[in-house]
Amino acid sequence: MTMTTMAKTVRTGMPPNAQHSHEIQAFGSVIPIPIALAESSRKEGVTNLNQLLADTITLRDLYKKHHWQASGATFYQLHLLFDKHAEEQNELIDEIAERIMKLGGISLAMGADVAEITFIPRPPKGREEAIAQISRLLHAHEILLKEARAMAKRATEAGDDGTNDLIVSDVIRTNESQVWFLAGHLSDTDFTYSDGSSTK
Ligand SMILES: [Fe+2]
Repeated sequence: MTMTTMAKTVRTGMPPNAQHSHEIQAFGSVIPIPIALAESSRKEGVTNLNQLLADTITLRDLYKKHHWQASGATFYQLHLLFDKHAEEQNELIDEIAERIMKLGGISLAMGADVAEITFIPRPPKGREEAIAQISRLLHAHEILLKEARAMAKRATEAGDDGTNDLIVSDVIRTNESQVWFLAGHLSDTDFTYSDGSSTK
């Protein structure tokens, strides 16, 4: 079966009702929820956390890509490390998505929606060498950490200590730890951070 024939077969098999169902809450809206936080604070938290969610999902997927496509002398070590980090990012994804729901919002979920807003550059579909994989991951971590610190600060200013705690204790600490493990693989000429400094 060709891809076109297969796509046709699969797409015509969709249940019509499920594709045109009535939404019970629109994306972008927040419903009242009694957690003693103003709607404006919850709304800002939901918007920021959805951005963080999209970037964390993208980073998780980037780790899985590199887990599957690892190569070279360090194949086994990187294959395992990338999967460990993907699993840790996966746990963060659930925490962030459920925090959004706790604030009365709607979390992003599907890959196509994630791709629309993520700040992390799209990698090529093909395989890259280990150094390029690690450099790409470090770049993604740095994007995520930069936004996470700004969002944590805003959450505190808005009185949203729960969101601040999630971002600082879980997101920032996990990402910093993963950067440490990645950066340890590189020599000083392998990677340059956005502020011009190198890995060592
Ligand atoms: Fe695997």
